[in-house]
Amino acid sequence: MHNDTDNHSIMKSITRSALAAAMMLAAGCSAPQEKAITLTQDEIQEIAAKEGKSVQDVLFDDGNYAMFIHFGLYSKLEGEWKGKAYYGNAEWIMNENQAGIPVDEYMAEAATFNPSEFNADEIVGLAKDAGMKYIIITSKHHEGFAMFKSDACDFNIADATPFGRDLIGELAESCHRNGIGIGFYYSQFQDWTAPGGGRGPQTDAEGRPVSFEEYFRAKCVPQVEEITTKYGDIELIWFDTPAEMGAGYSRELVDIVKKNQPNALVSSRVGNGMGDYETLGDMEVPAVNTPGRWEGIDVTQVGWGFSKADHRFKTPEYVLKTLVSTVARGGTFMMNVGPDKTGKVVPEAADALRKAGEWVKRHPRAIYMAEPSPWLHSLAWGDAVVNSGKVYLTIFDWPSDGKLYVPGVRNAIKSVRIDGGRKLKFSKEGSWLCIDVPVRCPDEMAGVVELTPEGELDIDSTAAVDPVLETIIPIESAKVEGAEVIRAGWMENFGEWRTKANARMSEGTVARWTVDIAKPGFYDLNLEYRSADRHEWRATVDGTQSIEHSCGSSSIYSLHPLGWIRIDEPGKHEIEIRQITGADNDVELGGLCLTRVNM
Ligand code: GLC
Repeated sequence: MHNDTDNHSIMKSITRSALAAAMMLAAGCSAPQEKAITLTQDEIQEIAAKEGKSVQDVLFDDGNYAMFIHFGLYSKLEGEWKGKAYYGNAEWIMNENQAGIPVDEYMAEAATFNPSEFNADEIVGLAKDAGMKYIIITSKHHEGFAMFKSDACDFNIADATPFGRDLIGELAESCHRNGIGIGFYYSQFQDWTAPGGGRGPQTDAEGRPVSFEEYFRAKCVPQVEEITTKYGDIELIWFDTPAEMGAGYSRELVDIVKKNQPNALVSSRVGNGMGDYETLGDMEVPAVNTPGRWEGIDVTQVGWGFSKADHRFKTPEYVLKTLVSTVARGGTFMMNVGPDKTGKVVPEAADALRKAGEWVKRHPRAIYMAEPSPWLHSLAWGDAVVNSGKVYLTIFDWPSDGKLYVPGVRNAIKSVRIDGGRKLKFSKEGSWLCIDVPVRCPDEMAGVVELTPEGELDIDSTAAVDPVLETIIPIESAKVEGAEVIRAGWMENFGEWRTKANARMSEGTVARWTVDIAKPGFYDLNLEYRSADRHEWRATVDGTQSIEHSCGSSSIYSLHPLGWIRIDEPGKHEIEIRQITGADNDVELGGLCLTRVNM
């Protein structure tokens, strides 16, 4: 831990400890636990002033949790066209890869779009209950329909529908009144209904060719001016899918946002390497800490816009786990809801967000102002963050034998307690901290344990194998020779992205992991990969003990048993994996999995 970023985060922690202490005194609190900062409006102002940041920066960097709303004319169709359901991204229903709806037929739908049940306060209330700190809503998606009153184009919710209200205006007003940040998604390149828009009609009503340049001047620029001037201070503009749009266009859009809203951020999807932060791929949570300023995004259904055929809702546990892991990897998290055609968020999605939000309210330190995990990756039972110099462990897999093993703790530990509760006994076994936890998890969703270290936190981030739980160690923690580790993405359903880092192994390539093992014994070793063929593999432990076997094929990533290895001494060991037959490069190795055999 010696680079500038680390120094910066240490400084930040120190300032924050002082701030937390001051707030604790102000609130008349005393030990044992300081009052948590939950980023109330006053706290946000105070932090912004102390750290010389804008409110927008504090919401993004410290709020760590936001609501994404995909709401547009597509919401009226709810993933169905002429009686047929189209699965995946319902906001793409018009597109030729989905229902392929002709422009005039799609635009005609506006005449009967009436989300009369939409209630801005209700949706802002849901974001608050969920523990989210700002909302980003689609002001215009790829289909070109604006959800605000626009003078630049009357294909908008106020002018073209019986609803007749400026929905974005209502939401922005409610956000400002309720102390929630607001920002807008805007599809700057793709516009499937405006002449000249990216992937849209290339001629106007008279059959005259229209260029992207003309579209950009006539619709995109004036609408971006509108959304950055009409709705008060905004959090950010979330541009999307720049495709082949030139750098000049991206620059111009960034300049408009900064001219009208000097403190607002711009998403990286403005294109051409611009933007204030990076948005990762849809649904992507990296396996290892990722430096820089970034955001992870996910959905409550399969796609972004509401689909009535889609009953694959995300559980509260999924929402929570994705939030906690994103924050622990160093990002901020945005979870999407797609209101239905009436303007309501269906209870399956709303209740799951609320349930996860109740957890956030019980354990604010695990989310707000939380710094990334000092372990740099998740742990077998859950994940960790640092907040005001203390470590918060979120335990999804609560140990049933009453012992929680925490690897790589070089510090002496001052105290260990259940978050918001009693002190726990602990002992050290080498650098493993063994905590006596109650057999019953103290939280119905995920227990949180607070560690207070003696002095500056000093964690050994070597991949560690839990003595009880199955431990998957990703390829990013290995040294790989003869193959590159890449992040590959693929779609399960239309728009349902998955990402996984992997190394394409073949004969002669080697992946080596150093692992820290607390308890000697036999370990069941599995390889996590996908491959069209069966191959033979060898695992070598500490350069001496080898096992070989063939492992099966599978078209999806899964665990393939290679055999048991024996560990005689606790401590660090090197495990080397080689593919010993097959030169066709078809294996994508994603990780190693070790589970201690209970004998
Ligand atoms: C993709 C899709 C889009 C969705 C977005 C959210 O870019 O085109 O429909 O709005 O992801 O991240």
